[in-house]
Amino acid sequence: MKTLILYYSRSGHTAKIAQELADALEGDIEEIIDTKNRSGIIGWLRSGRDAMNKSLTLLKDPVNDPTEYDLIVIGTPNWAGHVSTPTRTYMHQNQAKFKEIAFFCTAGGDNFTGPFNEMKELNGKSPVATLGVRGKEIKDGIYESNLQEFIKALPM
Ligand SMILES: Cc1cc2nc3c(=O)[nH]c(=O)nc-3n(C[C@H](O)[C@H](O)[C@H](O)COP(=O)(O)O)c2cc1C
Repeated sequence: MKTLILYYSRSGHTAKIAQELADALEGDIEEIIDTKNRSGIIGWLRSGRDAMNKSLTLLKDPVNDPTEYDLIVIGTPNWAGHVSTPTRTYMHQNQAKFKEIAFFCTAGGDNFTGPFNEMKELNGKSPVATLGVRGKEIKDGIYESNLQEFIKALPM
């Protein structure tokens, strides 16, 4: 099964999970790149506001064509209880090109419901699996069993 792991990451957590998934699934990996500056406190505030407003942004052109993949695994950080703006934009622009899809999300806390519900809505159908990873689990390196469970649920 040809798999593409797509992710947006502002500060590296979601990128780390994405890389581990790409290694385990032997899939292609692509970062969703925003043209908007989201660094520092101004960037943080702007990101929270954009997420709450469910705004879209201008992304750099994607590298891979999602129609060439059987499975898309797409990741986001939780921004104020929402899917991050760059992941929202990618899904909004490309959802018609997805076959099977799975979601992953990283968060400071343990609430993944908001982002996953929005991703489901953007996608128009349910994911085959979801993985939520908390910041503390990433810091302590204790998410391996959840990651393996997620991988087992994928149609490989
Ligand atoms: C603008 C903004 C809003 C956030 N809001 C939440 C939140 O509501 N709940 C939560 O658990 N974490 C929240 N976080 C923390 C991130 O979801 C968490 O640190 C995530 O792992 C960051 O992923 P990244 O390093 O891939 O960017 C927020 C982070 C940012 C930048």
